[in-house]
Amino acid sequence: MKYTVVIPAAGQGKRMQAGHNKQFLMLADRPLIIHTVSVFESDPWCEQVIVVANEDETEPMESLFQEWNIHKVASIVTGGEERQDSVFEGLKQLKDTSLVLIHDGARPFVTIDHIHALVEKASNQGAAVLGVRMKETVKKVEEGVVKETIERSSIWSVQTPQAFQFPVIYEAYDKADVDQFRGTDDTSLVERMGLPVHIVEGGYDNIKLTTPEDMVIAKAILKKRKRGEVQ
Ligand code: CTP
Ligand code: MG
Repeated sequence: MKYTVVIPAAGQGKRMQAGHNKQFLMLADRPLIIHTVSVFESDPWCEQVIVVANEDETEPMESLFQEWNIHKVASIVTGGEERQDSVFEGLKQLKDTSLVLIHDGARPFVTIDHIHALVEKASNQGAAVLGVRMKETVKKVEEGVVKETIERSSIWSVQTPQAFQFPVIYEAYDKADVDQFRGTDDTSLVERMGLPVHIVEGGYDNIKLTTPEDMVIAKAILKKRKRGEVQ
């Protein structure tokens, strides 16, 4: 089964407090974006990678892809103000694609097994997202007071990749643009069109590197993987 992946990497990485875009942060021997893109480089199902980057970071990224022998990056597109704008720019590059994945540049630990399960679900059902079951109890709070304890068995924490038949996601992004609707993730734009989004159970390792503490966890995951343990 074949797919294209759009990788938004045009953020600022403010919460990481690295003084520059976290995509360039070194994790063991290579920058974060190289870890992430390498997963797709090594997946035979992945036909091409579209990276969305800040304008002034396009060249440095291109050099990194050359340095690390990444061949599947078909284009590096300039991103926008928010993630949603960046992803839309990436999607506009695509035409003859049937299946599209959208995956954060800041999530280097997704596994090929989980990607394949997701791709199969989206190609049958139209839209699917990787997620994990919530481990903590979640409560709804208003003005410092608990209003409700949410029934945990129905709560999932969603990740990327999120996968779609191309016309489904393009129309959802286009409509959100026309309506000036801002969603929290890609599938929320599909949900508002009344279409079902299917959940595929992923792994707890597939974290998004967001704050400095996440770098500590990332190093631990890399160590574990060096020992041959994958989750
Ligand atoms: N992203 C993007 N374009 C934007 C904002 C974010 O392509 N205008 C990308 C980021 O590069 C990242 C992914 O979307 O790979 C998820 O966003 P997030 O983790 O929030 O990264 P940043 O926006 O870079 O971080 P922060 O919000 O802390 O500034
Ligand atoms: Mg952000």
